[in-house]
Amino acid sequence: MIDRYGREITYLRLSVTDRCNLRCRYCMPPEGVEKKPHADMLTEDEMITAVEAAASLGVTKLRVTGGEPLIKRNIVSICRRAARVEGIREVCITTNGLLLPEMAEDLIEAGVSRVNFSLDTLDPDRYAAITRVGSLDRALAGLRTALTAGFRKVKLNAVLIGGFNDDEIRPLAELTLRDDLDVRFIELMPMPGGEAFGQESYIPVTRVLEALPGLRPEESDGVARLYRLPGAKGRVGLISPVSRHFCAACNRIRLTADGRIKPCLHSAEEVSLKGLGFAEMREAMARAIMDKPQCHGELSADSRSLSARGMSQIGG
Ligand code: 5AD
Ligand code: SF4
Repeated sequence: MIDRYGREITYLRLSVTDRCNLRCRYCMPPEGVEKKPHADMLTEDEMITAVEAAASLGVTKLRVTGGEPLIKRNIVSICRRAARVEGIREVCITTNGLLLPEMAEDLIEAGVSRVNFSLDTLDPDRYAAITRVGSLDRALAGLRTALTAGFRKVKLNAVLIGGFNDDEIRPLAELTLRDDLDVRFIELMPMPGGEAFGQESYIPVTRVLEALPGLRPEESDGVARLYRLPGAKGRVGLISPVSRHFCAACNRIRLTADGRIKPCLHSAEEVSLKGLGFAEMREAMARAIMDKPQCHGELSADSRSLSARGMSQIGG
């Protein structure tokens, strides 16, 4: 379906849970997110109906997110059923990877073809500090699994944080040398729910180009500007939600675990699908696509997102 600004919406991000086994500082408070009543959350059947409705409106790509999707008890079943929906060509998952070693095979067999892996640092103490509770060893075991299990594509997303990991641009980027892995640096977005970071934490991803003068530009894919280190198997990507909006090329809508369609990550606007059947969901979704804002306007280092929810409740 084409929205009123001429953008073709082909991509649905489905958050299957707002809960997580980590507590990344920029994403959620130390105690995690408040548990919502079970009855408010979408059931597995409702999620699949929503995917069917989205597919009937032209969505071809589904990304399953969280919170952390792999802690969802029925995640494999959700992925398997979603992958079978007519019109859905690709099911991808975004994960912190801690549970991948035991789950990768089932996910691949269920039809998940791509993984976006969240990892901001290669230093064990820093990993423990930014995630509050995580162990880098487990994350790296997950990354190894992601790279060897047989997914069609693996990307690593690192949120670039001034004074935290801006001295790790090279080691993170060099993960692309030996593996066919895209390492993408993302600007820290000022989202509700996360800790307030100081001005100095927001650094533009162009810093990556300064740190790695050898990078050669490649053709870009959607939201990431892509480069390659000489001789590298994978690519380095820059994603700049703060310094350079990509609203004009935005092809996505989001569905939260409690059943709200969010036409824009940074707008408070939501349309509820909870309790609806296919036809009503399809209609509500079409309305949400038509109401998708042209641009989220001022999202800068010192203004917070207008989203009513934090990242863990939207799914990145
Ligand atoms: N700014 C940028 N990226 C964020 N993510 C979560 N919160 C933020 C934020 N405030 C990213 C995670 C992960 C994905 C789910 O969203 O690092 O890659
Ligand atoms: Fe969990 Fe991802 Fe949020 Fe970290 S950023 S707490 S891994 S949902």
